[in-house]
Amino acid sequence: MTPEERAQWLRAEINRHNYQYYVLDEPLIPDAEYDRLLRELQQLEARHPELITPDSPTQRVGAEPLDAFGEVRHRIPMLSLENAFSEEEVRDFDRRVRERLGTKEEIVYAAEPKLDGLAVSLRYEDGLLVQGATRGDGARGEDVTQNVRTIPSIPLGLLGDGWPRILEVRGEVYMPKSGFLALNERARRAGEKTFANPRNAAAGSLRQLDPRITAGRPLAFFCYGFGEVEGGPLADTHSDSMGRLTAWGLRISPELRRVKGAAGCADYYRRIAGRRDDFDYDIDGVVFKVDRYDQQERLGFVARAPRWAIARKFPAEEEITRVKAVEFQVGRTGAITPVARLEPVFVGGATVSNATLHNMDEIERKDVRVGDTVYVRRAGDVIPEVVRVITGRRPPDAKKVRLPARCPVCGAEIIKPEGEAVARCSGGLYCAAQRRESIKHFASRRAMDIEGLGDKLVDQLVERGIVHDPADLYSLTQEQLAGLERMGDKSAKNLLEALERSKKTTLARFLYALGIREVGEATAAALAAHFKTLDALKAARLDDFIVTGGIKGVGEVTANALCSFLASRPELEVEGDFATWLAGLKIRGLNPEVAGRIARAFGSLEALRAASPRELCHERRSLVEGVGPVIAEHIVAFFHQRHNIEVIDRLIEAGVTWDEEEAQPGQRPLAGLTFVFTGSLSRPRQEIKDRLQALGARVAGSVSKKTDYVVAGEAAGSKLDKARQLGVKVLDEAGLEQLLSGLGA
Ligand code: IVH
Repeated sequence: MTPEERAQWLRAEINRHNYQYYVLDEPLIPDAEYDRLLRELQQLEARHPELITPDSPTQRVGAEPLDAFGEVRHRIPMLSLENAFSEEEVRDFDRRVRERLGTKEEIVYAAEPKLDGLAVSLRYEDGLLVQGATRGDGARGEDVTQNVRTIPSIPLGLLGDGWPRILEVRGEVYMPKSGFLALNERARRAGEKTFANPRNAAAGSLRQLDPRITAGRPLAFFCYGFGEVEGGPLADTHSDSMGRLTAWGLRISPELRRVKGAAGCADYYRRIAGRRDDFDYDIDGVVFKVDRYDQQERLGFVARAPRWAIARKFPAEEEITRVKAVEFQVGRTGAITPVARLEPVFVGGATVSNATLHNMDEIERKDVRVGDTVYVRRAGDVIPEVVRVITGRRPPDAKKVRLPARCPVCGAEIIKPEGEAVARCSGGLYCAAQRRESIKHFASRRAMDIEGLGDKLVDQLVERGIVHDPADLYSLTQEQLAGLERMGDKSAKNLLEALERSKKTTLARFLYALGIREVGEATAAALAAHFKTLDALKAARLDDFIVTGGIKGVGEVTANALCSFLASRPELEVEGDFATWLAGLKIRGLNPEVAGRIARAFGSLEALRAASPRELCHERRSLVEGVGPVIAEHIVAFFHQRHNIEVIDRLIEAGVTWDEEEAQPGQRPLAGLTFVFTGSLSRPRQEIKDRLQALGARVAGSVSKKTDYVVAGEAAGSKLDKARQLGVKVLDEAGLEQLLSGLGA
């Protein structure tokens, strides 16, 4: 093979694998193999520069920085879309379309997700990528050719044959969520500015004058339409035309579907909305386009949007409103959380009038003041939060927020330890708020699971002084309960029965229910599995959780250096004071302080010579999974407080029991099993995830051969298909419940 033939072969081979990887998502060779091919081509081209072609895969990076972007005039304008925010608005759109077309027949629409990135037009001439341009004002955009060339899912040359001599495709450049997180993580570690969201990151990355910066950013591209196409459309319908693009190496959305009428659109919207979190890219809605080109033509355009397309947007996740006040809430462990009281605003599909400000450091960082106009965000099941302030709209009398000196509930001092973000009420169980919250936690579903004991009821019980601590719950009487608001005889009886049922529990649940600081479900399960009985845990000391060994200040390097030095010099003898002599050896890391500790620990050179590096090296190891020194201290402190022991004793007297024998091996019955979720589930994913993890399971994001179960909710998508392909077991929610109840969980 001549070098030229070899280069040609390598180019074709690399392009083929690019296509498999980026367009079909079905890599045929491992990454390392791909890298070898690319490197070989690079070396070959370095030796024979005359063999370099503009569409060579080596030509994606390295172009010189520009002073400014050139301007590109779009021969066919880049349009925007009309927006709809409800099913009804799409129905109206569909009705208008049928009226204009004078047809009663159902319209076929091409439907696809609306990617949240930025619109780009790519121009291919004779199969070669000659230009990439941003949308700009729709008529003129910026020339970003050098930058789009660095995006791996954009072919530099079209594959196969049969493409028109001039082909302009349009689509969205975006940054995958995973790439965005990694990019921000890197920026954070380097102390650089982070991006607010993947869209901003994509825009900032594409609009770089230095293409080498763009090349380092994880960008991707999906086509959704056409600009100039020599010889006219590629087919009679939009979806068929799009279908032809993949053969040429261009990527289209795998979610592209044909749907019928407004009902088909509504269905499609629901399915995509349910899977929104499953996609590795942000979408802000779905787009419906009349599929037949002849119908598109008859419908035409208004202003800058086509009459044949509409975007149905998801409810906005960010809105603007005003901070009326900032109040402070007291949590179960006394943590003080500032909460913004807002002018009510509809965001993320619900009316929001409170948003968390997390802690004082956050308030400071975002500089939130009472009276400010702010962005609030509510996404999915996440608690609404204040994102940032619009300082330009700050009224002159906006008030700074101060941490109160005393707890708003019990009046005890508020303490904020130096260097910690969280301030706490020091009132402990004298604080009604802390008592209230710890009782709510005790009763919650994942703890003692006392059905019917809701937050409102706990509030009443604590306020009226009927219940002071969790143990009081078990001495409640029918009369006491029936006297409460919104509590009839029947519900009082039901609650007493639920209390009775809750007494039979597991050690892990019981420990979790106690509300020990930083002991969540997973840690509680690990503690139960390790200590096996409550008495053993009560008696545990710090070194029952953490083993410490070696000499403080001695790392692996110093330990090894010292041991091998002594081994290589058997003739050495101590002169003068042992510690001073050791420090005088000038071994890295062996300063006088550390030398002093070693000398005290070993006493003599003979003893030190007999030690292995392991004995010297300082180590701290957790004996219980997830329990580090801080949590261990919380646990020990908890069981040293008389009040806590007293409550525990009363709980056990009241009849709370668990089966210590049976609890042993079964504590982490799902250990070693991997679960993946797909589709929309009836409860928040985090909740199900916590529960599975507490039982020892791993929860992964994507399906592979290592997946044991896929839990599929409604409108499950590609993960379900993949599970079926790989023969992975699939459970619906009921199936999952059955599996868990079989474990006694
Ligand atoms: S079609 C004439 N399809 O949304 C129709 N646009 O709000 C042109 N977008 O500028 C657009 N995903 O940047 C279409 N699947 C999709 C899209 C999409 C994202 C963007 C595009 C456009 C904007 C309009």
